[in-house]
Amino acid sequence: MAGGGFVDAHGGARAEYYEYRITSYFVFASIVAALGGSLFGYDLGVSGGVTSMDHFLKEFFHEVYKRKQEHLKETDYCKYDNQLLTLFTSSLYFAALLSTFAASHVTRNKGRRASILVGAVSFFIGAILNAFAQNITMLILGRCFLGIGIGFGNQTVPLYLSEMAPAKVRGAVNQLFQLTTTLGIFIANFVNNATEKHSQGWRLSLGLATIPALLMFVGGLFLPETPNSLVEQGRLEEGRKVLERVRGTTKVEAEFQDLIEASEAAKAIKHPFRNLLKRKNRPQLVIGAVGIPAFQQLTGMNSVLFYAPVIFQSLGFGSGASLWSSTITTGALVCGTFISMALVDKLGRRAFFLEAGFEMICCMVAVAVTLALNFGQGVALSKGTGIFLVVAISLFVLAFGRSWGPLGWLVPTEIFPLETRSAGQSMVVCVNMFFTALIAQCFLVSLCYLRYGIFLVFGVFIAIMTLFIYFLLPETKQVPIEEVHLLWQNHWFWKRYCEHEDQPQQVGRKLEHV
Ligand code: BGC
Repeated sequence: MAGGGFVDAHGGARAEYYEYRITSYFVFASIVAALGGSLFGYDLGVSGGVTSMDHFLKEFFHEVYKRKQEHLKETDYCKYDNQLLTLFTSSLYFAALLSTFAASHVTRNKGRRASILVGAVSFFIGAILNAFAQNITMLILGRCFLGIGIGFGNQTVPLYLSEMAPAKVRGAVNQLFQLTTTLGIFIANFVNNATEKHSQGWRLSLGLATIPALLMFVGGLFLPETPNSLVEQGRLEEGRKVLERVRGTTKVEAEFQDLIEASEAAKAIKHPFRNLLKRKNRPQLVIGAVGIPAFQQLTGMNSVLFYAPVIFQSLGFGSGASLWSSTITTGALVCGTFISMALVDKLGRRAFFLEAGFEMICCMVAVAVTLALNFGQGVALSKGTGIFLVVAISLFVLAFGRSWGPLGWLVPTEIFPLETRSAGQSMVVCVNMFFTALIAQCFLVSLCYLRYGIFLVFGVFIAIMTLFIYFLLPETKQVPIEEVHLLWQNHWFWKRYCEHEDQPQQVGRKLEHV
């Protein structure tokens, strides 16, 4: 799930006694959350298209535009290598990364709604600045505002959602955010296709981001604060009332008690980040907080996404054909998310990570070999080779869409125990944004210097992360949050870190592990 969230936002010790109906309150919260995802996705999708549009390049990046027209043999791979152009893309993620710290402060002290509103306003300002940009400074400033919007939105909206969702449907709701992210990307591609021909079309592409921002702001004004947040702020009566309304019943005693206990336990942890560094939390730190979010980005997926039109143009596709090809690949991304949502609870997380990892490695090697043999001689690729590349890239995206995309967010949320959950989640968002920015900033220059080799580099990264999953990640499918520590205690490698810790004794079923 893009942006992260909590599968189980509170303790859940009395989970079997929870009562609920799906209420309009909850449906409303889901719609607002959907807007949060689409806002993130729209932006992810729109920037790739815009940075390959001639009119946009002519206006702000004349150098790149000129180089693009020249088609010199030695510049084939380097047409778009321009640090300022990549800064246009990556500035957003650097801003998002920094703003997650502020977001977590506001979310905790002022409530989830406050953060949602700040995120929407900032995103709106960013979209306006970009749509009316007269120079690069305005463009990049706009991107920073969008980034702050995403930093706040990505941290808060999923949290809001999982706190509002009844425990039984929390996992599905978690993936809803990823789904709307990918739909946002997909829609952005259509918008780019439609605006590409017009000299000021890019302004419309960038400016349309105001629509989800506006809707999220208005939605945010009417949203109730979550019961968890009200309890956290000591407003117990109000918290209980909201819980009753959102669950559609007055029989919320069990859940409300859990919620109070969870909040007290969380408050008792004075230094959650330091706690995360403790030896007994090493698996969560290595896998959840750092490994998975970093690896998700090192798959190279976002390079394909941000720069798909640029890549296809670099490879000799015309500008229109490039945008359509990237629409096909982002369509594959949406399909991948549906597959994951339908099957991940049946087949398990590891199965998806491993089989999709293998497919992604094959695709990267296929792309690299095809380019090594056919590209770089200053001639455009043949039609057949072009189609082969689109198919290989689409299969890669489909594989990411059902594995590292959604699971890169879902799995970390499944493994943090309560006392490190909030700190852990902040780290997940931060590490993810950091690597997103890094890849965005480095990809085009790497494409220029490493040429087809960049795809082999991603292939090697994917091989490493697939081995990482194979050896180090136990299966978390349907394991209750409070039993997750047993996975580490029974794991061939992690048990040395967790064995002698005084974890609560658990009875119950035998857990699957590698
Ligand atoms: C990732 C993003 C990616 C998106 C679309 C998310 O899970 O965090 O970086 O762009 O999926 O695939």
